[in-house]
Amino acid sequence: MTDYDKYYRTENLFGEAYVQLIDFFSSYKPKGILLDVGCGQGRDVIPLARLGYQVTGIDSSMVGVEQMNTIAQKEGLNVTGLVGDIYAFDNYSAFDIVLLDSMFHFEKRDKQKETLLLSKIARDIKSNAVICVCIQDTGKKVAILKETIKDTGLDFDVLNDSSLIYNYEDKESGHKSKTKYCMYIVKKK
Ligand SMILES: C[S@@+](CC[C@H](N)C(=O)[O-])C[C@H]1O[C@@H](n2cnc3c(N)ncnc32)[C@H](O)[C@@H]1O
Repeated sequence: MTDYDKYYRTENLFGEAYVQLIDFFSSYKPKGILLDVGCGQGRDVIPLARLGYQVTGIDSSMVGVEQMNTIAQKEGLNVTGLVGDIYAFDNYSAFDIVLLDSMFHFEKRDKQKETLLLSKIARDIKSNAVICVCIQDTGKKVAILKETIKDTGLDFDVLNDSSLIYNYEDKESGHKSKTKYCMYIVKKK
């Protein structure tokens, strides 16, 4: 059992998808095959599948993936939920869009692992494929994200680089917080 298996006893733990993310992917064309890396309970997978994307979500939390699959099945959505380790996943080239929401923190102990994963995804995706990263905009996180993509030496067009506020409410304590996030979306040339 992972820590997140315990956290996800609270349904819809992280709340709704960001309006900006949904707005972007509502108007983005063509609707293709999307991979949500660390999909959790499907906070993004479900609304993106409702928009017409064919979505695969991978997460190490069986509890989260099962909750997501249950909603998808009820609604007849085109969703595949995989329980697995994103660091062992090796099929990024099969996707038109790769989403990583709240997956990178670039803290000292994880920085190398996370930047290597991002570089691998950037290298492995096909041309015209998109990477969307939503990340807390604190400290040097956004700068490290952009540098890592730049340092691959590959050509990307920036489709979106915007700030958003993530409103979180702890359902047990009622505590509310607002965190500044960056949504950074690039397309490989
Ligand atoms: C902060 S949550 C974000 C979940 C989701 N992206 C969202 O925004 O709602 C981080 C997620 O990453 C998953 N995770 C962390 N490390 C992982 C790994 N090595 N392989 C697969 N999933 C992982 C956790 O289980 C958790 O669901």
